[in-house]
Amino acid sequence: MDRIRLTIALVAVLCFGTVQARSLMGKSSPPPSLPFPALTNCQQKADSTPFRVSMTVTKAIPAQTFCFNITTATPNNTATSCGKATKLERVQFWAAYANRTGITTITVRDTKGAQKTVSGAWIKSGNTYNDELVIANLGWTAGYIATASPRICLTLHADLPLDTLCLGPAGRCTIGLYSTGASSAKCCPVYTVPLSA
Ligand SMILES: *[C@@H]1O[C@H](CO)[C@@H](O)[C@H](O)[C@H]1NC(C)=O
Ligand SMILES: *[C@@H]1O[C@H](CO)[C@@H](O)[C@H](O)[C@H]1NC(C)=O
Ligand SMILES: *[C@@H]1O[C@H](CO)[C@@H](O)[C@H](O)[C@H]1NC(C)=O
Repeated sequence: MDRIRLTIALVAVLCFGTVQARSLMGKSSPPPSLPFPALTNCQQKADSTPFRVSMTVTKAIPAQTFCFNITTATPNNTATSCGKATKLERVQFWAAYANRTGITTITVRDTKGAQKTVSGAWIKSGNTYNDELVIANLGWTAGYIATASPRICLTLHADLPLDTLCLGPAGRCTIGLYSTGASSAKCCPVYTVPLSA
């Protein structure tokens, strides 16, 4: 394991070296390193809005249902545009478009007993779909989240492990929580949720 990790780290260092060398030679500069590269045009800094996702994925019924618990907390800087966001509008997963048919249902559940099926949308750039699954039109305020603890639950086919659907770091799902802040700021703080304790 350690040897594999070391190898990966070395490859990463070598690749980074190559990119740097290339940009020094006057070629295009490396793309900005974003925690969620498929999600662009918004500010990905964690903890910038009042919305969070729990660092524990819970299982639910039926089988292969994985729930992401949405919570609320004080933004790191309440004076910023993103710190002033009042609603969680969308939850975006860095997920494999190639595995889309392995998702059976997406539900929103809360502790008030509400459970509704929602449809996820795959975001397109030009003619191609991104590896970005969006659950939109939430409109959740911090007050609603504090009282109802809503969860976004993905039910998958038996042959699709959650870790295969989720891209990015292995053993984790990478999630952006989209809000419009003050002055129309686009905020999508990114969190990477471990899939098991
Ligand atoms: C936000 O503040 C908390 C508590 O001070 C800190 O642990 C966390 O690292 C900060 N997050 C960011 C992204 O700066
Ligand atoms: C979701 O988070 C809230 C707030 O932290 C917590 O009270 C609740 O127990 C969590 N629910 C689940 C299912 O993890
Ligand atoms: C997930 O996608 C990969 C290709 O990226 C494919 O090999 C695999 O069969 C897919 N699995 C399911 C269950 O859709």
